[in-house]
Formats: sequence, C-alpha cells, structure tokens
Amino acid sequence: MRAALLVVTLLISVAGPAGTAQAVDSRAEIVGGVQAGSHEFPWVVRLSNGCSGTLVRQQMVLTAAHCVKRTGKTSSITVTAGTSDLSSSRGVDVRSVAVERASGFRGVTDGRDWAVIKLAKAVDAPVVSLPSGSGLDGGTFTVVGWGSTSEGSLSQQRHLRKVQVPAVSDSKCQDIYSDEGYNYVGSDMICAGELSRGGKDSCQGDSGGPLLKRHESRWVQVGIVSWGVGCGRAGFPGVYTQVSHFIGDIENALKIDESALAN
Ligand code: ARG
Repeated sequence: MRAALLVVTLLISVAGPAGTAQAVDSRAEIVGGVQAGSHEFPWVVRLSNGCSGTLVRQQMVLTAAHCVKRTGKTSSITVTAGTSDLSSSRGVDVRSVAVERASGFRGVTDGRDWAVIKLAKAVDAPVVSLPSGSGLDGGTFTVVGWGSTSEGSLSQQRHLRKVQVPAVSDSKCQDIYSDEGYNYVGSDMICAGELSRGGKDSCQGDSGGPLLKRHESRWVQVGIVSWGVGCGRAGFPGVYTQVSHFIGDIENALKIDESALAN
C-alpha cells in the first residue's frame, strides 16, 4: 500500500508541469550535475528497460530489484556496455540470460531493492568494486546516470552525467519519509542529497545505477539508485539500496546458474 502511494506520487510529480521545472532550474542535469568523462565510469551500463546498472563481473550486472520482473531465465533485457555515450558505436549490446531478484522484494520502500543480471557473454570492460563492510557508507557520494535532468522531464540523456550528494542520516531520513507515509528502512538503505537546498539528486531513469565512493584511488559502489519523492526537492533526499548490507546475498547471486532456474 505504501509502495502504491509512492508510485502515485512519482507519477503525479512526473506528470506535473513539465517544462516549468526545467525552465526554473537552470542547473538541470542528472539533477544538478555535469557530464561525466568518457572513461570515468567504464562499468556503468544502460538496460533496455530504461534502468541502469553496473558490471560487477564481466558477465554480471548489478541493478535494482524494481528494474526487473522476477528471478528466472530471461533474454528480455538488453544491456549496453562500454560507453558513456549511448549513441556511440563503441557501445556493446549483450542480452540477458537470467535474473536473480532479491528474495522477499515487495516494493522499493520495503528495502531489498537489488537484483543481478547474468549476460549471454562476458563483456570486455572493467568492473566496479563492491564494499566489504559499511565503512564507506557515509560522507559525500557520487551518483551517475542517463536519467532525467529535472523532476518534470521524462527525457533521458545521451551522455552519462554525474553529481555529488552528501549522506543524510538514517534517523533524519526516517523522520522525513515517515511524515509523508513512506517506509524508510535504515538498515537497508542509504539516504543522500542536499537536504536544505535540494537541486542535486538522481531521478527517473537513473534507477539501478550506482551510488559511488572514491576509495584508495578506485570507485566502490556503496548504493543502488532506488527511490525518492520527486527529484532534487529540498527536504527530500534520494534513497539508495545499501550494498554493504546485502553484500553476502549479492555475492551468492553472482554465482547464479541459469540451468537451475525456471523459464
Ligand atoms: N525510481 C526511479 C527510477 O526508476 C529512481 C528515482 C530516484 N529518485 C530520486 N529522487 N533520487 O529511475
């Protein structure tokens, strides 16, 4: 029920005064970001269903549970890898063979918003690191994606964009979202955004993509774009799946054997 309410809110906000938000917000980017360097995030992939993901193994993509239908064999998702420019011929398209969605996933506000996609073949591109503990789950993060650049816009970007978002505490986020009737699960989620000013956020189409932390000269994926109320609103930070909390389950899912799965 809460999840249904959230979807309604998102739809209303998306169907709202398209154009106005963009006209008012001259910083309209990922929301409030800039174009990423063409080789800066070489493991970010676009899914044919409008979501994003990351290569965590050369044949495995990490994304959000709400970006996939269910656990099982499927060739229905095409993954575009190896390019930050979606119109470039450098991009490689590979089909999915199977999906493992977090068991017990019900909806984004209930947590467990992660899934793993196995590809038909390995992609010749770097992979992103996953965290080994919760030590990187605070401070300032970077989120990247090809999604909308403002709340009122559904259009997607050709070039990958990035923006920095500071962590907001679980208790603060819990207060904010419970006041609005949503469930914020602190143990499962990371909350991040410019709390008082707004203007920097992920948005529609960024889902499944990574929340990142720079550590020892490499990127570590600490979160997965999951949900929010609107995009970039002051007082409403973005919510991300806390990868460190699920790392054991995710690593197990990376061993997925499609021959053991139903069609
Ligand atoms: N659910 C959205 C998607 O499917 C992502 C929303 C993130 N929203 C936010 N305000 N950070 O693309």
